[in-house]
Amino acid sequence: MTSGWSWFIAIVALANVAGAVWLLLANGRAAAGDVAANKTTHVWDQDLTELNNPLPRWWFWLFILTVIWGLGYLVLYPGLGAWQGTLGWSQAKQHATEVHAARELQAPRYLRFATMSLDQLARDPDAMGEARSLFANGCAGCHGSDARGAPGFPNLTDNDWLYGNAPETLVATIGAGRLGIMPGWQAVLTDAGVDEVIAYLQSLSSTPANPGLVAAGATRYATFCVACHGVDARGNQVLGAPNLADTIWLYGGDTGSLRTSIAVGRQNQMPAHEALLGPDRVRLLAAYVLSLGQAAEGGGSNGPAGGG
Ligand code: HEC
Ligand code: HEC
Repeated sequence: MTSGWSWFIAIVALANVAGAVWLLLANGRAAAGDVAANKTTHVWDQDLTELNNPLPRWWFWLFILTVIWGLGYLVLYPGLGAWQGTLGWSQAKQHATEVHAARELQAPRYLRFATMSLDQLARDPDAMGEARSLFANGCAGCHGSDARGAPGFPNLTDNDWLYGNAPETLVATIGAGRLGIMPGWQAVLTDAGVDEVIAYLQSLSSTPANPGLVAAGATRYATFCVACHGVDARGNQVLGAPNLADTIWLYGGDTGSLRTSIAVGRQNQMPAHEALLGPDRVRLLAAYVLSLGQAAEGGGSNGPAGGG
């Protein structure tokens, strides 16, 4: 906050308090019994007069007390612009203290988790219970509470991976984050070239495609796309380049979505979580994602959305 704004806020806040006190005092009245002094001009039925009696004393003093309490608060806590308050309290410090206390409480559990491999964690009900709540708090907002993703956010329950699901890969993905960049090809390919490549990709994933365009698309693919998506278009997990030969799409496999992906390009980020959660929780979440994939292997189910 600039010092100008800080002063402005402090002055407005104090002026409000002063205004409230003024209002209280300026409207002070004669004692409740003084009918003549407290009479208003409002009269009904000829002689029924409205009185404007003062506040009861206890009520008046309650107002004064709130003012004193408020001023005390503004001295002790931050409230007047950039003034930090004499107690040094801040929301961030309070949050840090509470997080620290909660983690101390859970430390023994995590000590046990630290001795286990990711595979063991993935089969441990206590660990997975904890991981489920971490996922609900930190990951579900993007990947969905069922981890099945949404367009642009990969499904973590299927067996199709951008970067892979080896334990150390998952730890790296979750801890350090990922940046997926698909360059746009409109300028290089032009509309016609984009249509050809789309037809080629559709032929790979057994979607009806214009056969006249497929061969030309294959040539273009071999020139421009093969370096990242691979000879057989099955992707490259080192680069995070998705498999284009299956029916699981990160952004959608319909012609319109493919055209946007190829002509305009896509950029996508999985944020790094190591600093936020610490290494123990990142490991636990990696084990959780691993357990989702294992469940998928058993059930053989691929989610409808996301993937890639
Ligand atoms: C702000 C949204 C967001 C949040 C929060 C988020 N993710 Fe992601 N995540 C993404 C995106 C987007 C990608 C795909 C990145 C790309 O396309 O390169 C991704 C990718 C991943 C991948 C790689 C999937 C693959 O196919 O290789 C894993 C694993 C993952 N996230 C797990 C998590 C976990 C666990 C959490 C919670 C700690 C989490 N994500 C929180 C957006 C998010
Ligand atoms: C520099 C490497 C690179 C090149 C070259 C490249 N891509 Fe990609 N492509 C990627 C990456 C990385 C992604 C994933 C982006 C993300 O995570 O958001 C991607 C995503 C895509 C997608 C979206 C897939 C989905 O699941 O929704 C399509 C379609 C695609 N690329 C087609 C192509 C075509 C066609 C070409 C050639 C004209 C091409 N790419 C060239 C790296 C590349």
